Amino acid sequence: MNTLIVGMQWGDEGKGKDIDILSEAHDVVVRYQGGGNAGHTVVIGNEKYALHLIPSGILREGKLNVIANNVVVDPPALVKEISELQVRGVKVSPENLAISDRAHLTLAYHRALDAATGSSIGTTGRGIGPTYTEKSARTGIRTHELFDLSELEKRVIENTRFSNHLLDYYKAKQLEPSKVLEELLEARETILPFIHKGITGMILKHNGSLLFESAQGTMLDVDIGTYPCVTSSNPTIGGAYTGTGVYVIFNRVIGVMKAYTTRVGRGVFPTEQENETGKRLRTRGNEFGTTTGRPRRCGWLDLFAAKYAVQVNGISEVSLTKFDVLDEEDSVKVCVGYYLNGKPAEYFPITEMDKCTPIYKTVPGWKTDTSQARKAGDLPWNAREYIEAIVDYLRVPVRRVGVGARRDQTIELQ
Ligand code: GDP
Ligand code: IMO
Ligand code: MG
Repeated sequence: MNTLIVGMQWGDEGKGKDIDILSEAHDVVVRYQGGGNAGHTVVIGNEKYALHLIPSGILREGKLNVIANNVVVDPPALVKEISELQVRGVKVSPENLAISDRAHLTLAYHRALDAATGSSIGTTGRGIGPTYTEKSARTGIRTHELFDLSELEKRVIENTRFSNHLLDYYKAKQLEPSKVLEELLEARETILPFIHKGITGMILKHNGSLLFESAQGTMLDVDIGTYPCVTSSNPTIGGAYTGTGVYVIFNRVIGVMKAYTTRVGRGVFPTEQENETGKRLRTRGNEFGTTTGRPRRCGWLDLFAAKYAVQVNGISEVSLTKFDVLDEEDSVKVCVGYYLNGKPAEYFPITEMDKCTPIYKTVPGWKTDTSQARKAGDLPWNAREYIEAIVDYLRVPVRRVGVGARRDQTIELQ
């Protein structure tokens, strides 16, 4: 069984929890895009882990975790993540973590450029856009280059000098090339043993027991999402193939979707509630970024956008998360279409979303604590009706409902 987990909204859908649950039944967890912009939270007992670059399968013993070629790796950030896990007793060694030799490096000048240019999008400031820009320009530095020290030095210095021109243009402070290099070299020794030159074969050896982990979500996809307020990679299913360099058949494509919607950073968000409802969702859902701590914008579930996510990813089942956050609502709204130019839109208007207003369907709330529910029968009638409405609209089954952050706070549906 090969499984793909993809976010259906603007990220932070609760992928980390699902990856953790599903990793039990898979041998290998593969992260295929993004970088330190991701923040995947996994709660195990009283322990809470926030993973950024390392696949969430690291928390289970005996699993191989792969950072594939389209992930952008920030060496000091990775070293920090490895050591923080090790301090907490989590094994991280070349036996259970392999990094593609084709992954691109995020360096200090990428972070500086992101800080200088990212505010119009509200990026995470982790240097993601500039790293992918350099990759597309074919001047990026890849992990395999860490093996050749003299060449590496030349490349880092040259790229920093070039970036300094851009930083100058943006009136930002220029960087000392030797300092950029020094920071990289400090992390280099720790990372080298993890770099693997045969990732494709390594992944394919486990074909049939692969779990692919996306970061971000469909609406943040650079090709599919709400461009330009997106990330710079492809979280959607196509990215799973280019991001790893393998072709496998996914038996399950799991779309992870919150029972409402959140977004961090700037950009269009038709169902956003900039009012008491939004505040309530933020408080009850503890909607603050795992990576940056920023408050997340909150709003009602957008099923019209979710249907688009189903289409572009070929989603075979939905994992509905944070259901318990809606427990106290008197009534719950779901967006089932958009008005565009005064008429219901006949297609998903991804480039015209800023001109759209949502068409809502209102369903009664359930006003019951669901956090203790463990099977469908434990859910109140109105809660089941809400799930049914989602299934009816998307025409895809909801297979899992999250009613809390812990592993056990999960309802498996048939
Ligand atoms: P990811 O980036 O998709 O992995 O999601 P994040 O970790 O950034 O954000 C999801 C947050 O919701 C985390 O704090 C999770 O611990 C938490 N969470 C996940 N599932 C549930 C759930 O079903 N109910 C509640 N209340 N919290 C959840
Ligand atoms: P996970 O994996 C939510 C958002 C940023 C910004 C835009 C571009 O935890 O779901 P970037 O730093 O990637 O250039 O920022 O994308 N963003 C995320 N939002 N969850 C994420 O990851 C995100 N990664 C990036 O807030 O709007
Ligand atoms: Mg997150």
